[in-house]
Amino acid sequence: MEKYAEIVSFIRSIYQSDKELIPLHAPAFKGNEKKYLNDCIDSTFVSSVGKYVGQFEQMMADFTGSKYAVAAVNGTAALHIALKLAGVEQNDLVITQPLTFVATANAIKYCGAKPVFLDVDKDTLGLSPKALEHYLAECSYIKNETCFDKATQQRIKACVPMHTFGHPCRIDEIKEVCDRYHVALIEDAAESLGSYYKGKHTGTFGLMGILSFNGNKTITTGGGGMLITNDEALAKKAKHLTTTAKMPHEWEFYHDELGYNYRLTNLAAALGCAQMEQLPGFLKSKQDIAQKYAAFFSTKGIHFITEPGNATSNYWLNAIILNSKEERDKFLTFTNSQRIMTRPIWQLMNRLPAFKDCRTDDLENALWLEERVVNIPSSVI
Ligand SMILES: Cc1ncc(COP(=O)(O)O)c(C=O)c1O
Repeated sequence: MEKYAEIVSFIRSIYQSDKELIPLHAPAFKGNEKKYLNDCIDSTFVSSVGKYVGQFEQMMADFTGSKYAVAAVNGTAALHIALKLAGVEQNDLVITQPLTFVATANAIKYCGAKPVFLDVDKDTLGLSPKALEHYLAECSYIKNETCFDKATQQRIKACVPMHTFGHPCRIDEIKEVCDRYHVALIEDAAESLGSYYKGKHTGTFGLMGILSFNGNKTITTGGGGMLITNDEALAKKAKHLTTTAKMPHEWEFYHDELGYNYRLTNLAAALGCAQMEQLPGFLKSKQDIAQKYAAFFSTKGIHFITEPGNATSNYWLNAIILNSKEERDKFLTFTNSQRIMTRPIWQLMNRLPAFKDCRTDDLENALWLEERVVNIPSSVI
């Protein structure tokens, strides 16, 4: 307990707070948020028509180096549309990792497809290219440039790796495997705005990537998401599908296919523009906090998760690895009793009722991490 008490004092020293609850990740509104929101209200353009939506999309395309960015009501909706545009249909299989937030698996299920959960790497916490190669080599065959599962004959249409807590996974190796097996690569970069692999922004390696601006993310629009892609046709189609598939016309309402009301509001986008202006400062602050944590935990014999090789992480959510589930539970109980918000990593997706009949591999690393990883306060200062 003495060690945990020292950790609590250290976290309080970082956030310069003696008593109050220290949250896991609070948003920071230090820029033009109120000005742009007032501008929206004064203009009356509070809904999905208005200048901030396009502006926010352009800022995101510029920042990530992606040619196109399409705003959506949240990251889950952006992922749903990305999967649909990749051609994921009823009864297809989509490979992903079990160690993720439920939204990744939900979006696959929304398409009527079924996730296949493969193991993660211990250092990146993201999908293991070796596990991916192993599954595809052992369990799939290719016919007419389409990948099928040998046992069930289902199409293996896409693969959705996730950059956990902002730490990039081995995305170039994953892409190489996906390309070889004709499996569409869609990156769940919901947590990794400002994270790079070999100098390239996460979410820009595959056919499409998605970002989230939920209240707990590096930047927030209250709720919001974005689809990024270098493919103009996909970007146009994403805009169309997320805006009810309405054909442009001065007054006629004609929707040429089943569309979705996944529009981001101008109000949310205004918040997004103000947040984007501050993103470099947020990332610097998060790097500084992570460096402090790394130095501190190295003196305590506790493993603090740092950015993997070849990667620059946004350190969205800092995390430590404890020795066992028992130690983890003691740590969670103690820190939360001291009003320091800490949380365990997610339970593996294949344990949840909606996904418990899904195929997995041995999940050796995911099971090990599930019992030991804890998130610690990571808000921007
Ligand atoms: C890994 C991951 N995927 C998807 C999402 C979905 O994003 P949203 O909450 O914006 O729908 C989130 C975050 O919430 C996430 O952490």
